[in-house]
Formats: sequence, C-alpha cells, structure tokens
Amino acid sequence: MKRAAIIAIAAFLAGAAAVAVPHWMGIAQVVLVALAVAGAALAAALAVRLAMEERSRRQIEEARRQMVAAVSHDLRTPLASLRLLVEAIDDGVATGETRERYLGEMQTHVEALTALIDDLFELSRIEAGEISWTMRQVELRGLIDDTVAAMRAPAEARGVVLAAELPAEEVLAQANAEKLQRVLFNLIQNAIRHTPADGSVTVRARSAGGNVEIEVADDGEGISAADGERVFDAFYRGDESRSEDGAGLGLAISRAIVEAHGGRIWLDDGAPGTRVRFTLQPA
Ligand SMILES: Nc1ncnc2c1ncn2[C@@H]1O[C@H](COP(=O)(O)OP(=O)(O)OP(=O)(O)O)[C@@H](O)[C@H]1O
Ligand SMILES: [Mg+2]
Repeated sequence: MKRAAIIAIAAFLAGAAAVAVPHWMGIAQVVLVALAVAGAALAAALAVRLAMEERSRRQIEEARRQMVAAVSHDLRTPLASLRLLVEAIDDGVATGETRERYLGEMQTHVEALTALIDDLFELSRIEAGEISWTMRQVELRGLIDDTVAAMRAPAEARGVVLAAELPAEEVLAQANAEKLQRVLFNLIQNAIRHTPADGSVTVRARSAGGNVEIEVADDGEGISAADGERVFDAFYRGDESRSEDGAGLGLAISRAIVEAHGGRIWLDDGAPGTRVRFTLQPA
C-alpha cells in the first residue's frame, strides 16, 4: 500500500509540474501530463491489486487458522477420552464387563482418529495434485446400483427409503470407480443422516449436454442459504447442534475428487430437502 501511495504522490507532483510549466513548453507539458495520467492509473491499479492480495492473504490466513483449530479440536476430544479410559483400566478402576466396554470404546476412538487422519491426508494429496489413480470407462448404472445396495441397510435402520432412478440406456463416464464410489458414499451418507424416518433418498444419473450428471436428492431438513456452498469447505459442519459426529470432510473430499475428474459439484435447488449434483466427463 505504501508503494502505491508513493507512486500516486509522484504522479500528482508530475501533474502539478505539468500545469506549472510555461505555455511555450507545449510538447513537454503534454508529455508530463501523459506521464502523470499513466502514473496515476498505474498507482490506482497497483493499489487495487495490493488491496486484493492483502484481502486474499488475510482470507487464506483465516482459513488456515480455522482449519488448525478444527483439527486440534477433532484430535483433542477423542484423545482426552482415550486418556481417561486408559487411566481407568491402568488404575484397575475398570474391571470385568466395564473394562471390556472401555476397550470397545477405545477401539471406536482409535478407528475414528485413523479415519480422520486418512481423510486429511487424502484431501491434501488431491488438492496438491498428487493423484495416483487411473481413469477408465465406467458404466455408472452398475456402480450406483452396487453403492445403493451397500447403503440400504443403514438407510433402513433409520426408516429412510433409498432408491436409484436410472435410465434404460448405459451411462458411461471417464472415472476412477473406487473414488467415484467414495463420492457417492459420502453424498448418500449425508442424505441419510439428514433425512427423518419415512423420508427418501434418491440417486439419479443421466447423460446431459455432453456431460454425465449424477445427483443425490433427499427430502430432509435441507441446507440453509446461509450455509450454501460453504458446506464444501473442509471442516464446515453448518449448525453444530444438528451435526452427528462428522468431521466436516465428506463434501470437501467429494469436491476434490470430482474436480480431479474434470467435473463440477454444486448444490441444486432441492427444496424441500437437499439436492447435490455433480458432473463427470463422458467416456
Ligand atoms: N443432505 C444434507 N442435508 C442437510 N445438510 C447437509 C447435507 N449434506 C451435508 N449437509 C451439511 O453440510 C455439512 C458438511 O457435510 P460434510 O459431508 O462435508 O461433513 P459431515 O457429514 O459433517 O462429516 P463427514 O462427512 O466428514 O463425516 C454437514 O455437517 C451438514 O451440516
Ligand atoms: Mg458427510
């Protein structure tokens, strides 16, 4: 900002000098005025750029700070529980059935911590462009049917009807089947979590306008306009009071995977409920 101010002052002085130059110095005056105008324009452009850089630097810094706080919180909570459980077993306070239960709880915490760290590594690798997977021609109807079948039990356990609505003809995309399944799993898991009993979750796929489009729609509580696209940011969990133990990484990983496939993911109008759509390149 200081540099921009100096240039602006220099430009102003050059302009003032131009006005002060006697009339007979016509060409010199024109040159000076032109220089002054160019200097002022340059200063203005520089000032805008510096302000934008400063703002995006502050935004990046803030995002980094929030992420460190979220990771610390998500690590600290299960670690604190683990410590208490270990101490109870170590002190001999927990014996017999209680000890067995505590050991089970410890196992759950360790699994959750491992999953969190795996997700974080995966996200940072994809975002750094370190992608080691291969893309192939994938027939989406089979892949969606398999994923839906695998998720049917958790859906039914909550009284949610999970279904796939697929076209009669093949839907072919260029994709990595395993990563694509991960995206579908994340979206369906979210939909089931946020849909009350008797609600429904539907997965659809179609070839549209030279792209392949997939959607997961539910008729649950929906995502508020205030949350909007921020739900795709890492660790963003919307209203904490209604989130169920999730780390807030599912949609961030899904977006990273879809973008690494050359596609796009967004929230479409799903009212009532939520509709997440994404595109893939056709095969
Ligand atoms: N189908 C949905 N309906 C309503 N809210 C949703 C839906 N999907 C996502 N959200 C909101 O977006 C937030 C972010 O979703 P995301 O999948 O990234 O994280 P999470 O589900 O909380 O945790 P994780 O996926 O890591 O287990 C959720 O916490 C929830 O508030
Ligand atoms: Mg999720």
